[in-house]
Amino acid sequence: MATSPITAAASAAPSAGAPASTSGKAAMSDAQFHQLAKIIYDRAGIHFAPAKKYVLESRLAHRLSELELEDFSQYISFLTMGPYQTDEFQEMFNRITINETSFFRNEPQLDVFEKKVLPEIIEARKSTKRLRIWSAACSTGEEPYTLAMLVHRTLGVRLPDWRIEILGTDISEKALEAASEARYTEYAMRTTNPMVRTRYFKQDGPYFILSDSIKPMVNFEILNLKDRLAAKRHGTWDVIFCRNVMIYFDDPMKKQVVNMFADQLAPDGYLFIGHSETIRPGEAPFEPMPWPQAFAYRKPLGSTKPVM
Ligand SMILES: C[S@@+](CC[C@H](N)C(=O)[O-])C[C@H]1O[C@@H](n2cnc3c(N)ncnc32)[C@H](O)[C@@H]1O
Repeated sequence: MATSPITAAASAAPSAGAPASTSGKAAMSDAQFHQLAKIIYDRAGIHFAPAKKYVLESRLAHRLSELELEDFSQYISFLTMGPYQTDEFQEMFNRITINETSFFRNEPQLDVFEKKVLPEIIEARKSTKRLRIWSAACSTGEEPYTLAMLVHRTLGVRLPDWRIEILGTDISEKALEAASEARYTEYAMRTTNPMVRTRYFKQDGPYFILSDSIKPMVNFEILNLKDRLAAKRHGTWDVIFCRNVMIYFDDPMKKQVVNMFADQLAPDGYLFIGHSETIRPGEAPFEPMPWPQAFAYRKPLGSTKPVM
């Protein structure tokens, strides 16, 4: 094995307990899985059940080869002890997160946002003309750009009078790089109707390039939902979308995150979550809106403090 600074840092690590793999790649022992799963949970709140060992193993196998590491024990040492640990956490999250998304994902829910919530919030903010939307765990940007299109077509000619702040955040730097590029394939467009495609995209071969009327409406930033202080720095939001990420969290992490949203949401603001997610009574100061297929929540009137 070559002795690069990377491999030198890692090769000092113990490598006991690594079973041989039939594919020639390092296999992950149960002990290594538990160690890695705990590190990932502590850092990002993402819960890997033992049945998902193969996911971690297969997603990180190539990384081990790139780093010329022999087994997962060396990788764990590299991740937690070497001089490259911060970068390696980022590299690891780039590989282990599931970035599945699309434009106009779950259209009935977005209809509620467009037809009920946006007009109400626009009316409520007409004196300040400031609207703040956070797409938390936005993956490659399709969700916040979709929200920008809905704001764009709702405000229409009034748009220049408004200060619109739409922020997309995610733990994966690689996903956010793709988001900033705003160049998509047909796959990202699979839930997007032809009118929207024509109005907001320019086609360039197999790619759909997002229009300049939408792209500058959205900013992106790395943000780990476990990092409450980082979220606090952004102040109060009128609407928060956090869809299809809490399914990867366990109950304590989910509770922490939804209470953080309660903290960061304006008293009359709305939280939208994924169609297979729910906020249970008592978990956080949120009440579900009685709108079918909306998966929308609001803080009860008079509630300002999160449930801890
Ligand atoms: C399945 S995508 C959801 C994308 C989009 N919200 C949607 O519903 O189409 C889940 C995203 O959550 C991100 N993620 C996972 N754990 C996170 C954490 N602790 N903090 C921030 N983002 C996280 C992943 O990187 C991934 O991009």
